[in-house]
Amino acid sequence: MEVASIAKKPDVKHAELVKWVNDVAKQCQPDSIRWCDGSSAEYDELCATLVDKGTFIRLNPEKRPNSFACFSDPSDVARVEDKTFICSRRREDAGPTNNWIEPKEMKHTLNGLLEGCMKGRTMYVIPFSMGPLGSPISQIGIEITDSEYVVVNMHIMTRVGKRVIELLGSDGEYVKCLHTVGAPLKHGQADAKWPTNATTKYIVHYPEERSIVSYGSGYGGNALLGKKCFALRIASAMAKEEGWLAEHMLILGVESPDKEKSYVAAAFPSACGKTNFAMLIPPKELDGWKVTTVGDDIAWIKPGKDGKLHAINPEAGYFGVAPGTNFKTNPNAMKTMEKNSIFTNVGVTPDGDVWWEGMTKEVPKDIIDWRGQKWDPASGKPVAHPNARFTVPASQCPSIDSDWENPNGVPIGAFIFGGRRSTTIPLIYQAHNWNSGVYLAATMGSEMTAAAFGEVGKVRRDPFAMLPFCGYHMGDYFNHWLQFGRDIPNPPRIFGVNWFRKDDNGNFIWPGFSDNMRILKWVVEKIRGKSNAVESPIGWMPHYEDIDWTGSGFTKQQFDSIMMVDREGWKKELLSHAELFEKMYDKLPKEFIFMRELLLSSLWRSPEKWSLEAEEI
Ligand code: OXD
Ligand code: MN
Repeated sequence: MEVASIAKKPDVKHAELVKWVNDVAKQCQPDSIRWCDGSSAEYDELCATLVDKGTFIRLNPEKRPNSFACFSDPSDVARVEDKTFICSRRREDAGPTNNWIEPKEMKHTLNGLLEGCMKGRTMYVIPFSMGPLGSPISQIGIEITDSEYVVVNMHIMTRVGKRVIELLGSDGEYVKCLHTVGAPLKHGQADAKWPTNATTKYIVHYPEERSIVSYGSGYGGNALLGKKCFALRIASAMAKEEGWLAEHMLILGVESPDKEKSYVAAAFPSACGKTNFAMLIPPKELDGWKVTTVGDDIAWIKPGKDGKLHAINPEAGYFGVAPGTNFKTNPNAMKTMEKNSIFTNVGVTPDGDVWWEGMTKEVPKDIIDWRGQKWDPASGKPVAHPNARFTVPASQCPSIDSDWENPNGVPIGAFIFGGRRSTTIPLIYQAHNWNSGVYLAATMGSEMTAAAFGEVGKVRRDPFAMLPFCGYHMGDYFNHWLQFGRDIPNPPRIFGVNWFRKDDNGNFIWPGFSDNMRILKWVVEKIRGKSNAVESPIGWMPHYEDIDWTGSGFTKQQFDSIMMVDREGWKKELLSHAELFEKMYDKLPKEFIFMRELLLSSLWRSPEKWSLEAEEI
């Protein structure tokens, strides 16, 4: 097959990489190949191409300079968990929480689909680094794609460019990421505004080969392969082998008035407010306390020679959920997206700006909805898709941490885990030790929202918020975490939070957002040995008096109500832990059986409704 043109091929010394690119081109049969250089000229040119194709709408430069909106095909709006596969050689290495197909069989299926899949399109070769270039914690990937949308999003989300090719040298390691929208064009056929394969989608990972093939979707985590596919699924398998951690965690810095800085990594399931927490602005009454942002979604963590855990955010941008984001819930995110941003599946106003549910009280008049139609207020349908996204450069975030690109990462002092639970789980508690913290994280559950899979309101166990993202057997993953703690002299402390507990009338009790700083302050002072706690049946907890309530009207009674440990609720919780364990019994750490028993026994002797109120300081 002759490719009509090969543009901007850099001087690539890596023969195996060149061979792979040629092999892919032979199979996918694009009209032309273009090596991406990561320059702003390239970004501008491809955005202009997307405008010409009708994919991008250029937003009003006075309102949103250098920014674009686009609407996806209605069949392509989110990650496709049921079409996501971990194709390890052995089924037992993928484990019970992943879809698995034997790699040879999967390759046979994909080979059929990939044959000629890029006809009529340009094949882009994107060299990218996850993490600051050259950091000992960073990794390199090469994404091949036939989507300009993917190229420009990768420009924001990762570090793209020639330097990556230089770093690779002649034999450097990289993760192969092959993506196609799966929509070849016949000669002269007009392209769709959002090319996709409406019927066939596959997101496939080969952990042993460290490669990814994504077919048929152009959306988010299905297509921007540096993110969930590489930085979580493949990286978690690499991390297990090499003794580090690749986690679905935000990283933030907390600075106290005396300028002492601590870093915290936190895991919440998708759609539980990670971006808001990562960019938190403390209440003004907590004078001198400051939160800085290192990352909002993924953390790569390696033990250093100093015995500390060093974490980087492998991404360079945020791909955040737009609906619900506003100047009250997340002013820093709103400022980050003032320019140089891409909006997918939001509404577009007649004056060329964007809008989504929750941005302001009133829906702007004559708005175009995410389906590209004039929105009908009587339709009962939302203007923006619930999974509408903004893609924005992290460097534009007003709260960005001064060390966010430090190649050595930032030292992690605490881990926080939290799901969305209307009952049972208290606002804040600290695990007794590393092992009980691993148990806490492994048994984390979250009530499903419209954005997630399954029945709304039902608790889905989401261990470490990694259920859709762990690239190997979840039981092995738990063991890896336990072992990891044994190997470090003074591991970070582990905390559980729940911002979402409701009262008997179904109203949230905790105000959340900036008030979460009060809890974060206690956590940070706790790891610094400066705050008090009391032992509850499930771990250590602050008394009402241990939290800084300056400027808050939150009462002791309210606090006690969201800290209460309900014996019967917890017994049900433990039964459902057993259900989870039963699923992965072949590789379940033996420690978990004993820890569950210990929890049961401490609940057994606790009052029916254990409350802080009854405890004396
Ligand atoms: C995300 C997710 O998009 O977790 O970050 O689903
Ligand atoms: Mn995420």
